Amino acid sequence: MSIALIPGSFDPMTLGHLDLVRRAVALYGEAVVAVMNNEGKSYDHTMEERLEMAKLTVENIPHVRVVADSGLLVELVDRIGADVIVKGVRNDSDRVYEEKMAAWNLAHNPRAKTVLLSAGAGLEAVSSTAAREKLRQRIPPHGLLAERVIDYLIGKGELPGEEENV
Ligand code: PNS
Repeated sequence: MSIALIPGSFDPMTLGHLDLVRRAVALYGEAVVAVMNNEGKSYDHTMEERLEMAKLTVENIPHVRVVADSGLLVELVDRIGADVIVKGVRNDSDRVYEEKMAAWNLAHNPRAKTVLLSAGAGLEAVSSTAAREKLRQRIPPHGLLAERVIDYLIGKGELPGEEENV
């Protein structure tokens, strides 16, 4: 049994990420989802909100836990005792970017080895960017986010509730 570390911004976690988590658990036995910060990005949701949405998304999946960390991924690998970093790639530009990140992480920690998994069938177009676009228009991103996350965003007033749709 190995531990797969699945880091990301998760702004917000999508059904594509959920599929990746499920596949990582099937491959490695245990997964730790780490909500982190990419210094080059500004976020629509706070770290606390991103953590909560990630927790809601993977709720009920055995052998998965979610952490938040604002440090370096190469250091988290050692703290968690992770055997592998798992990231999803949907297209060539994702792959080029992730390969660069993987090389940087490996150069800074020889235990920080990355495995890239291609997006699950039919999930290539599912992205946090697409979900944020819908959220900005106050359209519930069904098919992109877990229903529990959509309910959470309704509760926070980021999406209209049922009564506002009639
Ligand atoms: O979902 P994303 O935006 O592709 O995730 C990127 C993330 C958060 C995994 C990446 O930025 C990261 O590893 N951040 C942690 C800080 C760190 O280690 N930075 C140095 C790597 S260049």
